[in-house]
Amino acid sequence: MIEIEHLVKTFGEIKAVDDLSLPVPKKKMVGFLGPNGAGKTTTIKILTNLISATRGTAMLNGIDVTKEPKKALAHVGAVVETPEFYPYLTPVETLAYLGRIRGMSSREISIRTEDVLNQVKMTEWRTTRIGKFSKGMKQRLAIAQAMLHEPEILILDEPTSGLDPRGMVEVREIIKGLKKREYTIFMSSHLLGEVQETCDKAALIERGRLLVYDDIDNLKKLTRTSKIEVTTVDQASEEMLSRIGGLANVKDVASVNPQTFVVTLENSDANRADLLLAVQRLGLKISGFSPVGLPLEMMYMDMVKESR
Ligand SMILES: Nc1ncnc2c1ncn2[C@@H]1O[C@H](COP(=O)(O)OP(=O)(O)OP(=O)(O)O)[C@@H](O)[C@H]1O
Ligand SMILES: [Mg+2]
Repeated sequence: MIEIEHLVKTFGEIKAVDDLSLPVPKKKMVGFLGPNGAGKTTTIKILTNLISATRGTAMLNGIDVTKEPKKALAHVGAVVETPEFYPYLTPVETLAYLGRIRGMSSREISIRTEDVLNQVKMTEWRTTRIGKFSKGMKQRLAIAQAMLHEPEILILDEPTSGLDPRGMVEVREIIKGLKKREYTIFMSSHLLGEVQETCDKAALIERGRLLVYDDIDNLKKLTRTSKIEVTTVDQASEEMLSRIGGLANVKDVASVNPQTFVVTLENSDANRADLLLAVQRLGLKISGFSPVGLPLEMMYMDMVKESR
């Protein structure tokens, strides 16, 4: 597991990480969220010993990475920023080289190479020079190298950033597969749908500070507002819409097309049930009544707006 305690990183006047404390439990997958410049990459670079902390500690499986980086990182695999590989080497050669650096035996390297290339669906390309690879293929290879030495912890900085939609889907599938293998995973991302779908917990930071950290299910409930798209068989009149707008707990009603309107209301099951009843009482036949937007996204917007 990972234990970040009172971590601080300053760059001159800038506090990139500001007294951040965060435990990542064993075998859980934790999403690390926050706007651009919030301090996610800086935190991850400290965890992987690419830069040093100004203050605070980061323990990986009980070993302080700021004091004993080599020992602490022995059980960690990481993908930080866009990976660069030697273009004239093949995946097999690259993994052999990295395996030797990590002190693995030749036998271990060859067994693990097959396993990790298979996991990231790169077996077919095992002896092709990396110089020919697309960004998505390089990203998959980066994930493969992170898993090579069978680490218990995986640390990933925006693993799907810069990929095209297909590349994203492929990497997302690989990450879902990793979850089954019971790694402890700490992953930064801007893709809230992905985090909502794959992670157990998420932490949201802004300007280096932790805003909230909880189980995904609890975070979804933190949303203050919800939006419901209502579709009706007949057209709702202006008057009907304004009556819906006047209901308690309703903040806004916006017509999308003659048969569809979106209601913004305070988030609660009771409020949604009241809305459904009220629309029916107006004599409108409802053919659709569904939430719009991701709960995690709404929570993110609420929290980030508030802290500004
Ligand atoms: N080497 C550096 N020197 C000076 N300032 C830096 C350095 N690295 C990061 N920063 C600053 O620290 C802050 C946090 O940056 P960081 O890259 O950690 O954000 P991030 O959350 O990863 O953002 P993004 O979502 O855009 O990747 C920013 O204000 C950034 O400009
Ligand atoms: Mg970053």
